[in-house]
Amino acid sequence: MKIDISKAFSFSGQERMRQNEKELEILHKGLINGTGKGNDFLGWVKLPAEADPAILKRIKADAEKICAQSQLFVVIGIGGSYLGARAVIDCLSHPFLPLLLSRKGPVILYAGENLSEDYHAGLMEILDQYEYSVAVISKSGVTTEPAIAFRIIKAHLEKKYGKKEATGRIFAVTDAHRGTLKKLATEEGYSTYMIPDDVGGRYSVLTPVGLLPIAVAGFDIEKLIGGARRMMEQCLASADPEKNPAIRYAAIRNALYQSGKPVEILVNYLPNLYYLTEWWKQLYGESEGKENKGIFPAGAGFTTDLHSLGQYIQEGSRLMFETILSVENPGKKLRVPFLEDDADGLNFLSGKRLTEINSMAEMGTLLAHVDGGVPNIRISVTELNEENLGELLYFFEFACALSGYLLGVNPFDQPGVEAYKRNMFALIGKPGFEEEGKKLRERLE
Ligand code: PA5
Repeated sequence: MKIDISKAFSFSGQERMRQNEKELEILHKGLINGTGKGNDFLGWVKLPAEADPAILKRIKADAEKICAQSQLFVVIGIGGSYLGARAVIDCLSHPFLPLLLSRKGPVILYAGENLSEDYHAGLMEILDQYEYSVAVISKSGVTTEPAIAFRIIKAHLEKKYGKKEATGRIFAVTDAHRGTLKKLATEEGYSTYMIPDDVGGRYSVLTPVGLLPIAVAGFDIEKLIGGARRMMEQCLASADPEKNPAIRYAAIRNALYQSGKPVEILVNYLPNLYYLTEWWKQLYGESEGKENKGIFPAGAGFTTDLHSLGQYIQEGSRLMFETILSVENPGKKLRVPFLEDDADGLNFLSGKRLTEINSMAEMGTLLAHVDGGVPNIRISVTELNEENLGELLYFFEFACALSGYLLGVNPFDQPGVEAYKRNMFALIGKPGFEEEGKKLRERLE
């Protein structure tokens, strides 16, 4: 991957960026030596070098079994427990996979990442019609949304297949010691994978949390880890921004923040990057947004959103900078056909690949937005494959941890997430929350 900050630099002030780079040199040491905030959650730093071959072998064996017995594979999880897997799977999958007649493996579906009754009732109708297996993924093992979805789907599985066969169709990924899911998985005898204690949800894509669903979707988890390892070596070796893209990114995005740009929009030009953007939003939002500080992570898919957000980005309040995630060579080829009568006036494009036109849209938009006062950072990869995605995932994780440190926050906790949970528990009548529930109901009347 490459990072180009030439169209951001002039907005941030050279001094700010250099100052950030100096501070990052010290913070880089703190991250590697484990002396920074949240240092009990640094297991992800060396994860790509420490992948256990026995676990990878087991994941691949389970993936094969799942593929043999399932037309659908339901991933139950929320936040960091599904976004990494979904990001990689969507980036690498055929855009219309469920409709592809030559499809080989199961279609991956998601549950427990929302509380919509229509969504889950609709899912149950689909699960009536197909053979399926399930991964239930929760680090804490007590998160409400996936726990409810699992209760519903487990009952469906057991009714459809009988208790014994259902057990062979359930795969659990959770904490090694704690949580209701761990207890249930042990009692019921599910094939279970552990999430290391020192790896938080949003940094867990390279643990079985991400690897099991990615393997089931047919992608090469060793190549993914290999790409991440390549980036890990680069990130650990040096704090020189010329050699370490994570330092470069952390320094410039914070310099832009310090110069009055509190919103970062991660922009892509390929719809299959949608969930990579969602993963990035979660990673940066939960890691940085605390103590009344932090860059607000937003996302946009162009050229689609040029016809909605484009106007605001060009001429609205000047509060954002853009980071483009660009893919130089998307895999397939499709050219604009020649028309004898040129009825639509598009013959000047005939023979051109859509990618060429998309690239020109990207370049034209970049310059227009820069002219409109929107600084631009451009991160590019040659193509979307497992190695490059592994690199990107690790790059974003490393830069996120450093950015959080630069901001002075703990990038590995999420205390703010508890506030909604307490209120929800109180309102749905969870035992122990009776008093709070009464007070909240009074406020809602
Ligand atoms: O990054 C995080 O820690 C969170 O987003 C969690 O992934 C999310 O809340 C789900 O938690 P759990 O895996 O415990 O169900």
